[in-house]
Amino acid sequence: MKPEIRKTSQISPEQSVVCIIGNDHIPERLNLTKAEIGYAQNQLKAKDEYIFINSYNRCIYLIRLKDENIHYKVREELRRTSYNIRKLIRENNHTELVITYENTYSEAIIDFTEGLLLSFYSFDKYKTVAGKDDKKSYPLTIWLHGDIADPEISWLINLTDAVYFTRDLIKEPVNQLNATSLASEIKKIGNSAGFSVEVLTKGKIEALKMGGLLAVNKGSVDPPVFCILEWHPEKSLNKKPIVLVGKGIVYDTGGLNIKTGDFMAGMNEDMAGAATVTGVMHTLAKCNIPLHVIGLIPSTDNRPGGNAYTQGDIITMFNRMTVEIGNTDAEGRLILADALSYASKYSPELIIDIATLTGSAAMTFGNQAIAVMTNADRKYISLLEECGNDVYERIAELPFWEEYGELLKSDVADTKNIGGREAGAIIAGKFLEKFAEYPLIHMDIAGTEMLKKDDYYRLKNGSASGLRLLSTFLRRIAAKYSDKK
Ligand code: BES
Ligand code: ZN
Ligand code: ZN
Repeated sequence: MKPEIRKTSQISPEQSVVCIIGNDHIPERLNLTKAEIGYAQNQLKAKDEYIFINSYNRCIYLIRLKDENIHYKVREELRRTSYNIRKLIRENNHTELVITYENTYSEAIIDFTEGLLLSFYSFDKYKTVAGKDDKKSYPLTIWLHGDIADPEISWLINLTDAVYFTRDLIKEPVNQLNATSLASEIKKIGNSAGFSVEVLTKGKIEALKMGGLLAVNKGSVDPPVFCILEWHPEKSLNKKPIVLVGKGIVYDTGGLNIKTGDFMAGMNEDMAGAATVTGVMHTLAKCNIPLHVIGLIPSTDNRPGGNAYTQGDIITMFNRMTVEIGNTDAEGRLILADALSYASKYSPELIIDIATLTGSAAMTFGNQAIAVMTNADRKYISLLEECGNDVYERIAELPFWEEYGELLKSDVADTKNIGGREAGAIIAGKFLEKFAEYPLIHMDIAGTEMLKKDDYYRLKNGSASGLRLLSTFLRRIAAKYSDKK
């Protein structure tokens, strides 16, 4: 259960407190006894990550920030510390916990709380009552004590809410969540957050001739969907919208080029891009960010059923380009391509797609960087990089030279959906670029999304990678627009 976040201006003597300190001074308002202060001072000398003082009616957790010049690293260290003490905090069964700070930056309490909330997440809806870990679901209220503006608190709450439901969606297995049920979950989220959702079903997708999405869907018994999410606030500052596109493969078997060995494991998470776009839209709408943003989500499973598309098929895409299928496991780019060309109808300022697209991105950067390729103005990638450092969902750019696109040449169609064995992540990006008629940022989260073990608060098996990054990026674009006004 996600703790509730509230603001307070007081700390009462029986409340347990996390206090983040910027130097070795121990704040008087914690009302520690002489013996406790002596203990804390000794521990500070030992330079432990945190100091735990267990009095009989309350607990105090002291966190001494390391002296580090790069601010975003300090912020990340706090999020990581919160992961490291999440179990200790849970074991103490607090119903209330105050987070406060002294002699450091005021958002420290936000960073710590964000890390703690993300670390407390668990996916236990399919555990029977007997199997549930009671301590994990203990109701907790977190009181933020400090000089924090209300919009920052509301951002924290809405963004972490989004991470929670985005992770839930990503973790659902395909027998519980097919394309149609994904669409109805997105609708529910749109209704509660205040953005609109239109769901195109198979008939409409056929009428629109979205050949990529339809081809991938051919081996499935479940129909595809194409979801259009829109957040268009009255006071939006941008004339042309920003379009987000999320890969919604609810399960990737590989199709007839079936995944062998253990490569199919976790492929229910192949709709992480779609879930993440939904999470971003939720956060923008809930925080009333004055930016016109559209989310496009093509969704289906990729299976080797009786009528499955095959290697060698030639298909016609939504934009009328023809594609020779070199491999049915390169399905993500086919459904994304239709969405990227569909985006043209909005004359967007920028298109950003996010997808668990290639094993190659994971092989290149491991789990530490989102692979990014772009043909858009450099101002966007600089901002994205800055946001990536701040929320610590860092990006690394790959070259996007036209020579890489030449590897997609087909003898029989306008293009092929695969190149050679090398530079797989870049070639996938070049394929997508052919279908985007407006400036594109392509984000491949195959390495950062499906973690085998927790990377601190970025929890394993569906971390919702890119959600905090894209939400922050769009919020800052809105802020830049209002500065110009
Ligand atoms: N969904 C996979 C990519 C993936 C692999 C994500 C591992 C996360 C972890 C994608 O659809 C895929 O199968 N890509 C192929 C492309 C290849 C056939 C050109 C790949 O990367 O192997
Ligand atoms: Zn695949
Ligand atoms: Zn896939």
